[in-house]
Amino acid sequence: MMNNDLNDFISLSEKFESRFSTSHFPPQPKNLYDAAGHLLTLKGKRVRPVLCLMANELFGPISEDAYYAANAIELFHNFTLVHDDIMDRAPIRRGQPTVHEMYGSSTAILAGDVMLVQAYEYLNKINISFLSRVLSLFNDTARKVCEGQQLDMEFESQEKVSLYDYVEMIGLKTSVLLAASLQMGSLLGGAGQGNQEYLYDFGKNLGIAFQVQDDYLDAFGDPAKFGKQTGGDILSNKKTFLLLRAKEVADSEQIEKLEALLSVNDASKIQPILEMYKSCGVDEWARELKNEYLKRALTALGEVAVLSKRKKPLEKLAHDLLDREQ
Ligand code: IPE
Ligand code: IPE
Ligand code: MG
Ligand code: MG
Ligand code: MG
Repeated sequence: MMNNDLNDFISLSEKFESRFSTSHFPPQPKNLYDAAGHLLTLKGKRVRPVLCLMANELFGPISEDAYYAANAIELFHNFTLVHDDIMDRAPIRRGQPTVHEMYGSSTAILAGDVMLVQAYEYLNKINISFLSRVLSLFNDTARKVCEGQQLDMEFESQEKVSLYDYVEMIGLKTSVLLAASLQMGSLLGGAGQGNQEYLYDFGKNLGIAFQVQDDYLDAFGDPAKFGKQTGGDILSNKKTFLLLRAKEVADSEQIEKLEALLSVNDASKIQPILEMYKSCGVDEWARELKNEYLKRALTALGEVAVLSKRKKPLEKLAHDLLDREQ
């Protein structure tokens, strides 16, 4: 008999936490491995590994292979954060100084590299009957994250970026990993190709709404809850939906002011740009954008051929993620 009351996000993140070692690394060279362990000990929301476990549980009891995949996914995610913080010149993550702030950029690059290698070490524990498919999915995802990160950087100095370009970019840098986490969990639970694809699609759309909320919090979040410096995207001229929206609705006088502010190279521009965002109604726009992608995500989830009762934890998580403050 299958139990229809599946684990919710909190209980699965506790299960994941109890199995996720934060000391993957040997003691020497100390700076390298301390740097690699730094973010892992600070925890995070653990959204991606829990998505993997939830998708796995849709099809039966959670398997050992799903935990290996979840470990690999969280390590990979943390690796991307270490490198992302170098690229974004970010001083704070998870409420603490970033790895490159503490250990220097060269060590942070290497620390990210060993985290990635450690992720493959976990994948290597997965049953051979799944391994080739898991590796293809993982590698395809990793490649896409690199593409998205490259576009994100290039957009900083590119004047014309459309909402379409933005969605494409965040789809690559952020969504594909959420999508692949779900697909991998389901694959390891024995799901067929159709169900795997619906779950991927669910994650792809959910991930877009997730990054919209991240961009919103980067502007308007409470740094104490968000754990990151706010205003960083404005400082780097990131082409977030906030800026795209402001450019779309601003009158010619506001546009002139906005252009002048964008060419300023210090933190003095943050406050006036935030004010402009507010006067352009970005709040309402953010809600609309998130709801649009949430709707698409839930439609895809609706197509997954398991009892709808079993999808409740994923539905609840999807809603919660879009209103999060951290
Ligand atoms: C941060 O991801 C990077 C983005 C894609 C926005 P999370 O918001 O999941 O970060 P942690 O793991 O909880 O710290
Ligand atoms: C990050 O996007 C995506 C990846 C790490 C691949 P952001 O640059 O917005 O993430 P944060 O805000 O630094 O977590
Ligand atoms: Mg970034
Ligand atoms: Mg960043
Ligand atoms: Mg961000």
